[in-house]
Amino acid sequence: MTKWTLGIIGGSGLYELDGLEDRREDRVVTAWGEPSDTLVRGRIGDVDLVFLPRHGKGHRLTPSAVPYRANIAALKAAGVTDVLSISACGSLKEDYVPGHFVAVDQFIDRTVARESTYFGPGMVAHVSMARPVCSRLSAFAAQAAESAGATLHRGGTYLAMEGPQFSSLAESRLYRQWGCDVIGMTAMPEAKLAREAELPYATLAMVTDYDCWRSDTEAVSVTNVLEIMGRNSAIARTAIVNLARTLDGTERTPSPDGIETCLDFALITAPD
Ligand code: ADE
Repeated sequence: MTKWTLGIIGGSGLYELDGLEDRREDRVVTAWGEPSDTLVRGRIGDVDLVFLPRHGKGHRLTPSAVPYRANIAALKAAGVTDVLSISACGSLKEDYVPGHFVAVDQFIDRTVARESTYFGPGMVAHVSMARPVCSRLSAFAAQAAESAGATLHRGGTYLAMEGPQFSSLAESRLYRQWGCDVIGMTAMPEAKLAREAELPYATLAMVTDYDCWRSDTEAVSVTNVLEIMGRNSAIARTAIVNLARTLDGTERTPSPDGIETCLDFALITAPD
């Protein structure tokens, strides 16, 4: 039976996982350098988990300095079958209230200073990002978050900005006009690299603020992000445990979205 091995990338406020049996830590190095921190490995039932805090313990890495390629490569090498990322985000929509969670299904990448591919020069590939999220993993994660007590929105477009500064009012208004629902600094290029690594990927975004577009609400600040995160990161932690318990005892079949074979049709460089 093929088992599930969940890679969990913890965002701001999520630097540790609870409830792991056989917990151990592995320091690894990849061809793309060291990941953000040691990998924390363990299991819940027969589901293996590999946890990686995106910013490193103690939140040392800026969104631009996160070694995204090493992180995804480390999870792949650790035998991860599916990657769930947890990210704090700002809301660009009235109904997505601070404290709510969003099972993101689309991204707009406005990052400008990050290594965002494993390919080239010499070997060129173009993977499809039309549907950047694994529909099955996202549905399981959404259900797990609801069972943990989250108010959860299924679907949402996440705008990934470079940061580390928050957006200007003009930018925030522009992203709303584009139809974006939430804004954050980290899910890209992570989602692109996961796809190139043929790893099913999903994001659970925790809404911490209304960014700065709302005239009657104070603009986002680290203080209000930390306050909401403090109140809601326990839900994210419980959601991960719930997800593992749901998958426990079930056979892992390939993603319905064909993600594990997406490179079969993506390489464009002719063999020598
Ligand atoms: N992370 C949390 N809130 C954010 C915001 N408003 N903009 C960008 N990243 C964020």
